[in-house]
Amino acid sequence: MKTRITELFGIEHPIIQGGMHHVGYAELASAVANAGGLGMITALTQPNPEALANEIRRCREMTDKPFGVNLTFLPSVKQPDYPGYIEAIIKGGVKAVETAGNNPAKWLPILKENGIKVIHKCTAVRHALKAEAIGCDAASVDGFECGGHPGEDDVPNFILLPRAAEELSIPFVASGGMADGRSLAAALALGAEGMNMGTRFIATQEAPVHENVKAAIVAASELDTRLVMRPLRNTERVMVNDAVERLLEKERRLGADLKFEDIVDEVAGVYPKIMKTGEMDAGAWSCGMVAGLINDIPTVAELVQRIMNEADGIIRQRLAGMLS
Ligand SMILES: Cc1cc2nc3c(=O)[nH]c(=O)nc-3n(C[C@H](O)[C@H](O)[C@H](O)COP(=O)(O)O)c2cc1C
Repeated sequence: MKTRITELFGIEHPIIQGGMHHVGYAELASAVANAGGLGMITALTQPNPEALANEIRRCREMTDKPFGVNLTFLPSVKQPDYPGYIEAIIKGGVKAVETAGNNPAKWLPILKENGIKVIHKCTAVRHALKAEAIGCDAASVDGFECGGHPGEDDVPNFILLPRAAEELSIPFVASGGMADGRSLAAALALGAEGMNMGTRFIATQEAPVHENVKAAIVAASELDTRLVMRPLRNTERVMVNDAVERLLEKERRLGADLKFEDIVDEVAGVYPKIMKTGEMDAGAWSCGMVAGLINDIPTVAELVQRIMNEADGIIRQRLAGMLS
């Protein structure tokens, strides 16, 4: 399958693995690259730029195919060393960066000067248009279904993707709720030129996370995620658990008075406990509604090949067969 996304990133299949905190290590990024997709190392999971440089080196030892790095720009009291992370990306010879969160305009010139293709993750058409205007090469359009931060507009992909297609000139991938060949065929039909997956890639053999996390995703249905932190305008879609129920109870009780300090126990420092030690009630961790479509833990290569075969079958047989 050839699209503007496969051409842009020099990959075989139009499938991207989105950055994931404490999941996007070299093991997963290289497995996706070896399967013909675009894997992403998550920069901010690495404690400092030197550690990111090392992770990029490790990934390069595991694959000779292209892979990228996710750079998430968060509002935070103590800003991460972004110039240092960017230097590690450039020196590591990485040619694809997924930006997310705040507008990446400040960092685009240096990335572009170094021949790096930038795909910006957006949850709204207006943000995707902004990304296009400032010179991003592509957009990852993240619908309301997505695991992680869906923004505050709550527009699902059946509307968001065709709206993006109406407005954008740069290519975009569909993100949020993508799991299989049906997702890919639908994404293409709605105007995208590929898809980005988060949650689906966690439930794979190579994802370097505790087995409990993979089992929780397989066990979950599409009804098992919740939106938290909406009163703080920092909405996140997470897997429901005891901590999340407690957090939601605080949100109900405190209403508009809720402050970050009130929920710090349920959201701060949670990822290592969930992803490394498998303490599944430790706090709120991102997970998409797509968990309802995930029933196995294949290798990344099996998953990607299955997606491509299924999409091929849908497009060539099922859909073409409906035409007279
Ligand atoms: C556990 C987890 C952690 C994530 N961490 C990040 C992150 O650090 N930065 C980012 O840009 N997106 C992050 N995301 C979002 C994904 O990159 C992707 O956009 C999203 O998962 C797509 O929705 P899906 O889960 O329905 O496939 C995370 C998602 C999950 C499930």
